[in-house]
Amino acid sequence: QPLNALNSFGIQATAQKYVKVEDESMLSSLYEDKAFDSEFFILGGGSNVLFTKDYPGLIVHMASKGIQHFIEGNQVFVTAEAGEVWNDLVWYCIDHDFAGLENMALIPGTVGASPIQNIGAYGQELMHIFYSCRAFDTQTGEFVTFNNTECQFSYRDSIFKREYKGRFIICSVTYKLDLFGKVNTSYGAIEGELAKRGITEPTIRDVAEVVSFIRVEKLPDPSTIGNAGSFFKNPIISAAEFQKIAAEHPEIVHYPLPDGREKLAAGWLIEKCGWKGKAVGEVAVWKNQALVLTNKGNASGNAIYEVSSTIVDDVRTMFGVLLEREVNIL
Ligand code: FAD
Ligand code: EPU
Repeated sequence: QPLNALNSFGIQATAQKYVKVEDESMLSSLYEDKAFDSEFFILGGGSNVLFTKDYPGLIVHMASKGIQHFIEGNQVFVTAEAGEVWNDLVWYCIDHDFAGLENMALIPGTVGASPIQNIGAYGQELMHIFYSCRAFDTQTGEFVTFNNTECQFSYRDSIFKREYKGRFIICSVTYKLDLFGKVNTSYGAIEGELAKRGITEPTIRDVAEVVSFIRVEKLPDPSTIGNAGSFFKNPIISAAEFQKIAAEHPEIVHYPLPDGREKLAAGWLIEKCGWKGKAVGEVAVWKNQALVLTNKGNASGNAIYEVSSTIVDDVRTMFGVLLEREVNIL
């Protein structure tokens, strides 16, 4: 099975076996057939994966569809199937006037992947609206439910990236949203764009439109330029480490966290190392956002991985900070 169209980097790779899951009952059949006893990988929209070789096992492609909601007082519970396109869910909520997802408009990928790395953007994170998810346990063949606490969410992280890595297949996610939610325009870029448009009392639709506009300006469109968004996470360091770096680089871009630690803008660190807009063969660092690695057309997954390793080395040498990859390497 060719995977080119199933990963946003546009890497040419194949999978030994492939199954498209349009109904969760298929998972029970696969379990009966012992499909999960050998190597397998769960794939959604392929917008956060890098294939560095042909995949030697079974790709389980989650493609189930459907969105439902029920209202309780001032709150609404929206449940979407794993294969729903995240941005379609965002616009479903905006059309129904359900607040909470608008800052995360236009994030690529599926609903099923949204809890895995606790997706976030422009002042909002999934963990603030996630209620529960229904998942299939590939070790026991049973369906289970995880609530918010059980997912152990933190910045770009959840239990599904740690203890439960590769074990549970998320079948649907329920989000708890407000019927009369206040818009969140705290992210600088949103405020600036709203002001430019002369919007003083933004609606959730305004916020989603402005966020979508900013994203199109800043990020390469995977349908024409292969990429997986931010290749690295923004590193979090201790206050003491931060003081040392800031003494040498007072202009460093950073965000203080409530616990005293500091989150650094990895894009800034990479740009300072001279990587912004730079190309190595078929791999290029995006000209408007140094955190994004792109495939100029014929890059191999390995070539992209190698460039990412050189960037890690450079940032470590210049700042003593270790960048961690956000993209899932296969
Ligand atoms: P995949 O790439 O298919 O999979 C990602 C991981 O989730 C894999 O480990 C996979 O095994 C697992 N997974 C997928 N589906 C399931 C499931 N149903 N059950 C269990 N595990 C599953 N991310 C952000 O957080 N914020 C951003 O602003 C953002 N911007 C981006 C911009 C661009 C241009 C691109 C290309 C990517 C961006 N990303 C961003 C990353 C990406 O959109 C998210 O990680 C998204 O959640 C990936 O969804 P997917 O369905 O494509 O997942
Ligand atoms: N910056 C630079 N040079 C660059 C890029 C960024 O100096 O080349 C500095 C600028 O000062 C800029 C700041 O970094 O103001 C922040 O940049 P940006 O607003 O683009 O956000 P980011 O921290 O680089 C994060 C997420 C994105 C998310 C945006 C918006 C991570 C790893 N990335 O990027 O998520 O869309 O914030 O909220 O947390 C993704 O995860 O794939 C992704 C794209």
